[in-house]
Amino acid sequence: MMLVYCVSLAKLINAVIPRAVYWSDAGVYNLSCDNVARFPTFSVVLDGSYFDVQPLDYTLKVNESETSSGCTSAFVGAIPGQTIILGAPFLRHWFTSYSFDGDKDAAKIGIAKAANASS
Ligand SMILES: *[C@@H]1O[C@H](CO)[C@@H](O)[C@H](O)[C@H]1NC(C)=O
Ligand SMILES: *[C@@H]1O[C@H](CO)[C@@H](O)[C@H](O)[C@H]1NC(C)=O
Repeated sequence: MMLVYCVSLAKLINAVIPRAVYWSDAGVYNLSCDNVARFPTFSVVLDGSYFDVQPLDYTLKVNESETSSGCTSAFVGAIPGQTIILGAPFLRHWFTSYSFDGDKDAAKIGIAKAANASS
């Protein structure tokens, strides 16, 4: 459900988001819900094409109680190496189509903007 990156890459990405604060107990970055419009848009580059990840896609609202709520970043550093998992924050914005006819060398993923994408 997240955009899971290696720890060092998640740190670099969240460092670009204004006032992101690492919350070590939870392993996530807290964000200010009031600032979302000022957050940067990131792009994932796949095979030379740019796929945007907008602030509203990666800012997750957390409802803590009746009276308080907060936001956390969907960019989470949890895995070693170069692997990146493009979870719900990415898939919500981009429609994906998978083609696999038993031949892994011919496997394909098509990506297009989802009809209900935020922008
Ligand atoms: C992150 O947010 C949670 C929930 O609002 C809060 O309990 C925690 O203290 C915050 N952590 C930091 C490092 O600000
Ligand atoms: C959190 O969710 C509960 C239950 O849906 C709701 O009653 C409450 O108002 C929410 N809190 C905030 C701060 O939005």
